[in-house]
Amino acid sequence: MKQKLAELDWQNLGFQYRDLPYRYEAKFKDGKWQQGNLVEDATIKLSEAAEILHYGQEIFEGLKAYRREDGKINLFRPEQNAHRFTLSAERLAMPPFPEDRFVEAVKEVVRANEEFVPPYDSGATLYLRPFMVGTSNVLGVTAADEYLFRIFAVPVGAYIKGLNPAAYLVSDYDRAAYNGTGQAKTSGNYASSLLPSVEAHQHGFADCLYLDPREHKYVDEFGGANFFGITQEGQFVTPQSKSILVSITKRSLLELAERMGLNPVERQITLEEAFTMKEAGAMGTAAVISPVGSITYQGVKHVIYSEDQTGPITTKLYHELVDIQYGNKPGPAGWVQTL
Ligand code: PLP
Ligand code: COI
Repeated sequence: MKQKLAELDWQNLGFQYRDLPYRYEAKFKDGKWQQGNLVEDATIKLSEAAEILHYGQEIFEGLKAYRREDGKINLFRPEQNAHRFTLSAERLAMPPFPEDRFVEAVKEVVRANEEFVPPYDSGATLYLRPFMVGTSNVLGVTAADEYLFRIFAVPVGAYIKGLNPAAYLVSDYDRAAYNGTGQAKTSGNYASSLLPSVEAHQHGFADCLYLDPREHKYVDEFGGANFFGITQEGQFVTPQSKSILVSITKRSLLELAERMGLNPVERQITLEEAFTMKEAGAMGTAAVISPVGSITYQGVKHVIYSEDQTGPITTKLYHELVDIQYGNKPGPAGWVQTL
């Protein structure tokens, strides 16, 4: 059923799917991307032998549209999502979708569903979910030769509400292999995180923190966000690893932290070192910046900063980032595109 605008409570949207009026669709066949267009139907018809149903050829992206105070709409670094989509496509043996068309299609979807971009100050945004799946019939394990690219949009609240510290559990499971698909945004990485996250939720944790899959010694990332810490010396540190997603929020915060004199660095961080951080957080499009209140490992809880208060540096980073995204403050050149 189509979402009715009048039925939305902007303050309490949660992070859940809603069927908005328009989505973008383009098909790849005969060796090339066909012309795309907006469509109203939220459903997709697939053959029972479609590649995606068996061998998981899927990639996706997540980005947001922000309602500015002047009523216009901002996109945050959409060309970065377009580029990561290309890299994910290459890793999954899929035909890259042209990056300029990706950004144009994102804008088309935002404009077509404009009334669903939440009001400024509601704390909500319009989340965009571009994705691509292999659709042609396969039986043997092989890449598809036909693909579907789509972008749908959903108004969302915060993934983890507000700047409230959350409790995380160090997972015994691995999310992605060392030389596997961890750097690609592909469904398999999330499928492997489902059981760990169900178990973590059952024990009252917000999500899992995964270790590097080779030595289980270094911090990798959360199920849906990258990790950062502020050392006792006040340095912004974030893991370098072959098995984590190259986060656009992380890239942005590395630059903002530089400007703020936090001497940021990407390097390996042992779990033991993570326990000693002055502050820590999860960062990502959905997560924005969510403070880490505690990390539990082998039954022992390590509190980072505080379980109910957010540290001053995390708070400052959060406001720096969000003010740029909403257009309250100018960001580095080219970060924001206004519609
Ligand atoms: N890591 C994982 C596993 C994610 O799913 C996400 C979310 O997209 C991120 C990190 C953060 O990436 P970004 O900042 O580009 O949203
Ligand atoms: C995003 O932040 O866009 C993601 O894809 C994370 C997902 C767990 C919602």
